[in-house]
Amino acid sequence: MTNSVFDPVALRSDFPIFQRTVRGGARLVFLDSGATSQKPRSVLDAERNFYENHNAAVNRGSYLLAEEANAAYESARQSVADFLNGKFEEVIFTKSATESLNLLAYSFGNSQSSSKFAVKPGDGIVVSEIEHHANLIPWQQLAKRTGAELSWFSVTPEGRLDLSNIDQVITEKTKIVAITHQSNVLGTIIPLAEIVKRAHAVGALVVLDACQSVPHFSIDVAALGIDFLAFSGHKALGPTGIGVLWGRSELLSEMEPFLTGGSMIESVTMTDATWAPIPRRFEAGVPNMAQAVGLEAALKYLTEVGMERVHGHELDLTASALSQISDIPGVKVVGPLDMKDRGGVISFTVEGVHPHDVGQVLDSFGIAVRTGHHCAWPLMRRMNVVGTTRASFYLYNTEDDVVALVDGIRSVQKYFGV
Ligand code: ALA
Repeated sequence: MTNSVFDPVALRSDFPIFQRTVRGGARLVFLDSGATSQKPRSVLDAERNFYENHNAAVNRGSYLLAEEANAAYESARQSVADFLNGKFEEVIFTKSATESLNLLAYSFGNSQSSSKFAVKPGDGIVVSEIEHHANLIPWQQLAKRTGAELSWFSVTPEGRLDLSNIDQVITEKTKIVAITHQSNVLGTIIPLAEIVKRAHAVGALVVLDACQSVPHFSIDVAALGIDFLAFSGHKALGPTGIGVLWGRSELLSEMEPFLTGGSMIESVTMTDATWAPIPRRFEAGVPNMAQAVGLEAALKYLTEVGMERVHGHELDLTASALSQISDIPGVKVVGPLDMKDRGGVISFTVEGVHPHDVGQVLDSFGIAVRTGHHCAWPLMRRMNVVGTTRASFYLYNTEDDVVALVDGIRSVQKYFGV
């Protein structure tokens, strides 16, 4: 962004993709940032600049390019730490948020039985019904591998977490509470403070899936009081292929690695190895360097715009879309109908029309939305839907996009005669 005034229309010129048109020359109305965000030119330039001027494998070479690559990569790590208010060594680069969450689940599962991270029969792992599969299946499978018991918070018909039985869900046996910050389907922001308080009261670790929150509002890991956090770069204006795991240093330093191989060791013999200090212990192999540098540029862009403004803008668009969509007869919003503890995601169904057909007709007008189960099958079952159509907003969306969506939904109904 080149000026200090937040102007979403002007800001779109920073994103090359908005210069193209889509179906039949239509303007691109991109309402699928919950799946992946578009990229500003500064992110594309940062990646290209790394490859054109500094490309070398980090942590290996002693020549100039390797020094520059190292400096660029570690600068990206510091920028992520600053963005989250964490420490440099607490930021682990992975290929995705999914890998970050699997890293944790496998690290815990690989722990010696004497370790405080070991998960044993009788231990409890807590998730919720609103989890994306990425924050459900790693824990579900860890429970199966170890004999631990998986339990979960259910969701109310309105689409909020039901914490009425929090003391029965998080018990003295609970070892891990892995929970999403904001639902990728419903937009619900969870009552995290209450969960963290209870989890820590019983000595459990809190893992936060922040894929749908880090890109959209200011996150301070210290203030949240959590133990681990995962997010992906590509949902936060950054490149694909770069994810982040943040963890409290005193925990990470005692944990077992997930992937083993080059660069993550302290010493190696033919029969044994010891591990490097964090963060390198968790970064086996040549990492995604250009992508880390791209992510740094993305976070810089968001910081320059200001996360308060990003969030405020998304809330304005969401409030407008929510009231207009819920007023259309035959259209049902799946998720909270008010703006309390809610982010910029709206799922809905159109009576008599399958979500994929809704998506296809919207696409014919240049409107990109996600349709289907959104990698959240248990939530679909709980909400009694086969799938939904989901619109998700970001800083480059405008009120014109909301108008296009609402008009588009009316056209869907007309097209199918419902
Ligand atoms: N997790 C992404 C979404 O919800 C892909 O769309």
